[in-house]
Amino acid sequence: AEDDTPPSQSWSFAGPFGKFDRGALQRGLKVYKEVCSNCHSLNYIAFRNLADPGGPGFSEAQAAAFASDYKIKDGPNDQGDMFERPGRPADYFPAPFPNEQAARAANGGAAPPDLSLITKARSYERGFPQFIFDFFTQFQEQGPNYVDAILQGFDDKVPAGVTIPDGSYYNKYFPGHAIKMPKPLSDGQVTFDDGSPVTVAQYAKDVATFLMWTAEPHMEARKRIGMQVFVFLILFAGLMYFTKKKVWANAH
Ligand code: HEM
Repeated sequence: AEDDTPPSQSWSFAGPFGKFDRGALQRGLKVYKEVCSNCHSLNYIAFRNLADPGGPGFSEAQAAAFASDYKIKDGPNDQGDMFERPGRPADYFPAPFPNEQAARAANGGAAPPDLSLITKARSYERGFPQFIFDFFTQFQEQGPNYVDAILQGFDDKVPAGVTIPDGSYYNKYFPGHAIKMPKPLSDGQVTFDDGSPVTVAQYAKDVATFLMWTAEPHMEARKRIGMQVFVFLILFAGLMYFTKKKVWANAH
């Protein structure tokens, strides 16, 4: 139903001049680390990426310190044994489960998807005719709108006419409404040191922003270069116009 369309949020990264809100990226990372990472992997992001330009704005030392909080499985060593060591900037975020079977077994049969690209995977949900409209308007924001909505779409009161099987939970914005992810966030669960509200709405928006960055870490550079290309093309078109006038000045 139309009512189940995720509401559009206003995102700092929207539009041709959009940029990520560094504070939101850092808070979203904290929400991912403390909550989502218990079930969801983030396979395509390495700790060093936290210090990349256009990202959460960590220094290399901060990224290294963040990495060293993690235990990473490594090996075999010279004795042929696997071992654990503190994370390094070059390591990728470790996954919560060793494989898909283990992930399913721990989550009532549904594997929690990798979150690296989830904001892109959910961008095309509205299908073909709306796709054209979305292309010119809020196309890139559908993924983060969906993630933001689903985290706030849980409700103990199941509307009449909807049945939720055992082991699933009602979610207003999940297609079909029965999701196997238990409500992951509640107010006050994650602390922020920048004075931002510690509410589900704030967590949802920040983690959706963070997941937009993990899916498109070079977005800021892409938009900046895109604008430079336009400026160049306009100047170049002017130059070509006067060149043409000069070259053809004596033609009759
Ligand atoms: C599914 C996000 C925390 C377990 C999903 C989906 C998203 C998501 C976007 C995909 C929905 C879809 O397929 O359209 C998040 C975020 C979290 C979080 C951002 C942290 C704030 C958790 C936690 C658990 C969990 C803590 C485990 C206790 C699952 C499972 C699914 C899922 C099992 C698959 C649901 C199904 O297919 O029915 N999550 N999640 N998630 N999540 Fe999470």
